Amino acid sequence: MAERVTINEVGLRDGLQNQPRHVDTDHKVQLLNALLAAGIRHVEATSFVSPKAVPQMADAADLMTRLPDRSHIDYSVLVPNVKGYERAKEAGAHSVAVALSCTETMNRRNINMGLAQAEAVCAEVMRLAAADGLIGRAYLSVAFFCPFEGQIAREVVTWLAAAMFDAGAREVIVADTIGSADPMHVRDVFDDLTRRYDANLLSGHFHDTKGLALANSYAAFSAGIRKFDSSIGGLGGCPFAPGAAGNAATEDLVNMFESAGCATGIDLEKLPAAVAVAEQCTGKALGGRWLNWRRTQQAKQAVRAVGSN
Ligand code: HMG
Ligand code: MG
Repeated sequence: MAERVTINEVGLRDGLQNQPRHVDTDHKVQLLNALLAAGIRHVEATSFVSPKAVPQMADAADLMTRLPDRSHIDYSVLVPNVKGYERAKEAGAHSVAVALSCTETMNRRNINMGLAQAEAVCAEVMRLAAADGLIGRAYLSVAFFCPFEGQIAREVVTWLAAAMFDAGAREVIVADTIGSADPMHVRDVFDDLTRRYDANLLSGHFHDTKGLALANSYAAFSAGIRKFDSSIGGLGGCPFAPGAAGNAATEDLVNMFESAGCATGIDLEKLPAAVAVAEQCTGKALGGRWLNWRRTQQAKQAVRAVGSN
């Protein structure tokens, strides 16, 4: 039987949070519908952060009232603190993710807290989620390399993962925020973690700054990881991490895993329609390598068809 790989679409949150053009709630719902039509079942829909810090996410509560097919789709939201958690719970979220960075400076830039305070606040959110019957998830941001403090020691990642699991996290997502990791480093970090935790409790989140997001995802896969974040068309980037480019493109990840004989449950041929909606939302040309390849093939076919007429 084919291995199953779960793709968690983060385009609506990570993908849109940094876009200069305002994307309204109607367009977000349109994008969601296109993603769901392609078979996507796991979505990080929005974040309950300060609207001053991230204006694109100011409609989080409104969007929650308009999420399609809530009983079948695994929707998660990002929360930076207890206030965000309370807002998300009030809006009916069933799964919340905190963003704990592995360095002092990155936490200060991202959520205006030092590492110790960020760890305590994220642990508190995980405890509240567990007590309220919500799923608590914890990102470990800049888990490989920090734009301010450089390379991260593996022990820091294992220590923060332990802190989040001890507080009740049901999943830890290891994130290469600025796309600086390489596959050997990724393999080492995940090998360390899978010696301690079930691989099904871990997930990978790779940005594609240097074109290594796919290779890094595959390195994590080879360490036993079966859940990955990606953004439609390769959207993405953290506004507070200089150098953070888009996430791994969903269509590239689906193409890679399906080509490798894994089942994602996503219809690759339906993803270009979702990329087209993302392009309308952002006013930008988007698309991962697979989509560019497909567009070239279609253009060649069109030329051949004209030639044979
Ligand atoms: P602060 O200014 O220190 O907050 O910001 P504060 O507690 O002093 O409060 C200031 C004001 O913000 C107050 O309002 C609060 O009520 C309000 P005022 O009295 O001035 O009217 N406030 C909030 N409003 C709405 N929702 C909240 C909230 N909290 C306080 N949750 C804060 C601290 C954390 C709020 C701010 O820094 C923030 O929102 N940061 C968000 C950063 C962010 O969204 N970053 C991107 C997501 S993380 C990411 O992309 C990485 C990831 O993809 C993985 C990877 O790639 O590494 C996940
Ligand atoms: Mg990210």
